This record gives sequence, structure tokens and C-alpha cells, in this order.
Amino acid sequence: MNKHSSIKSSGSLVERAAEMYDFGAAFRGNAAPAVPVVEPGLPTAAQVGTAPTAPLPPMQPRVHHSAATRVVEINRERLAAQNFIVPDGPVSGLSEEFRIVKRQLLLAARGGKGFDALPHGERILVCSAHPNEGKTYCAINLALSMASEKDNRVLLVDADFAKPSVLSTLGIESGRGFMDALADDTVEAESFIIETDIEGLSILPAGSRTNQDTEYLAAARTAQIIDDLTRNDPSRIIIFDSPPALAASPASVLALHVGQVLMIVQADETTDSALHDALSLLNGCDHVQLLLNRAKFSPTGRKFGNYYGYGAS
Ligand SMILES: Nc1ncnc2c1ncn2[C@@H]1O[C@H](COP(=O)(O)OP(=O)(O)O)[C@@H](O)[C@H]1O
Ligand SMILES: [Mg+2]
Repeated sequence: MNKHSSIKSSGSLVERAAEMYDFGAAFRGNAAPAVPVVEPGLPTAAQVGTAPTAPLPPMQPRVHHSAATRVVEINRERLAAQNFIVPDGPVSGLSEEFRIVKRQLLLAARGGKGFDALPHGERILVCSAHPNEGKTYCAINLALSMASEKDNRVLLVDADFAKPSVLSTLGIESGRGFMDALADDTVEAESFIIETDIEGLSILPAGSRTNQDTEYLAAARTAQIIDDLTRNDPSRIIIFDSPPALAASPASVLALHVGQVLMIVQADETTDSALHDALSLLNGCDHVQLLLNRAKFSPTGRKFGNYYGYGAS
């Protein structure tokens, strides 16, 4: 069956996602959450993505290491240099945008305001169709934003097993992680979790790569590992930094185990057909929200970005 017909017949997942996210509003300049491309005064996204003007601060040494936990310091200058939200930093356009995104996801995770919590809504897959659309950038910012609230504990899982980048982006030495626990059922993923000096934020590395990522992930142990992570701390939010949906099949397997997908759409880049194809591969999870990344701001503060197929009619 062709992917386009499957998404049509599945009922308008894209339309529902767009409606939930009021995607059309992004085009009318209204309040749809959209992540700006860059903060005023900071390097442009192109500089950030390719050749930073100044070298990033060095990798952090471990502050503490024991068999059970690693605690690492996250360099705040390094965060700022890459345009991430800086804990205890000033309120910025970026932190405000993620506050809006976070609210919707937390409401779905925990319920409230007349809404029931979604089954496993505390597990959020941050995905996109292609590489380089901002999955890791948004997953880290979302984790930082959620952790900044006193009551939230966030576990950020580096789940782009083929190209893990959460740890290197944050300047943390990589270590054993999710794939190691998948390959060896005598070890607990929990034991690979790295605590950070950002209160409420911990990280699970991707771990050692195998050539059989998808086969391993398809096995029942994946559900067990993720269930254990939830059982060990039922109120923590687990954010998975996903592989791109169209480039790797693990994304569709991960979608089976989460309650929410945050789909990153890159302004002016992600095509309608790529988004449809990606969403049809992620149909294991039927609660999808869209996030427009790299939206540009006009001098009046209006957001705009062209998204093929969803322009204002
Ligand atoms: N809104 C944004 N503003 C500034 N830089 C961004 C933004 N979105 C992504 N980037 C940068 O673009 C590059 C690619 O993003 P990344 O999150 O690594 O993509 P992915 O995880 O989808 O492959 C990274 O260097 C990231 O920091
Ligand atoms: Mg990534």
C-alpha cells in the first residue's frame, strides 16, 4: 500500500495535529508555537550548525562517578553559544516559545483543565522527517525548559542510535546507555543514567551501536526497559531524541512506546509529502503535535514561515 493513501485513509492525522497545534495560526502571525531561528545578538543558525565563530568550551570532566550514577556539570556558556535555553538565564523569545510548547505537552502528560492524561503521555518522542531539522535542538531545549520548573524531573534519552548527539552537544563524555541495556538483559538502563548539575535533568546515553538497532528495538525488551524507566520514577517526563523518521526505522518502533510525538517541521524546508510519509511511519502513536522550527521573526515580532500545504488560504 502506498504511504500517501495510508495516511489519507487513516483519517487526517496531519489535520488533527495541525488543528491541535493551530498550525495555520503560524501563518497568520498568531500564537502558534514556533521556535525562532536564532536569538538577537547570538550567532546565526548557519553559524551554529556549521562553523561556530568561537570554539565551544571544552568537554566537561566528570564531577562525580559511582557504579550507580554519574553526575556531570553542564557548561552554561556552551549552552548559550549554541543558542540553548540557559538555566536561570534571562527570559528570552526562545524560552517563551518552549514554555508554550511545554505547557501543551505537560497537560497531555498529566491531565488537568478538564483533560485526562494520555496513556504514557509522560513519554514524548521528538522526531522529524529528515536529519538536521532540529530534533536534538528542540529535545534539549524542551528538556531544559521542563527541568526549570521545580516539580519536574526530566529524563532525556539520546535515542538517535545511529547518530547520537545529545551528549556531544552538551559537552558530556559519552558512555554506556540504552543500546547496551537492550543487548544485555542483565543490566538496567537506569544504571546508565547520568545526573546533571541542572536540577531535574538527567540523561540516558544512546550507548554502543550495533548493526541490528532495529531488530533489538523490535524485541520485547524495549518495552520492558522503557516501562522500567517509568516504574522507577513514575512522575518523570521521558523525552526521546529520535532518529529521523524517513532515514531510519527505529523511529517507528519508538513511536509504539510513547504517548506523544512532537514532530519538528523545519520552516521553508520540510515538504508536505515528507511530513505525510513521516507521520504514516509513526502511526504507532496517534497523538502528534507539530512544532515549526527555525521560524523567522519580522521586525514587528510576527512569526512567519512557509509550510507547503498549510499556507493560509
Ligand atoms: N531554531 C534554531 N535556532 C538555532 N539553531 C538551530 C535551530 N534549530 C536547529 N539548530 C541547529 O541546527 C543544527 C541541526 O539541528 P539538530 O537539532 O542537530 O538536528 P537533528 O537532530 O534533527 O538532526 C544544530 O547545530 C542545531 O543547533
Ligand atoms: Mg539529532
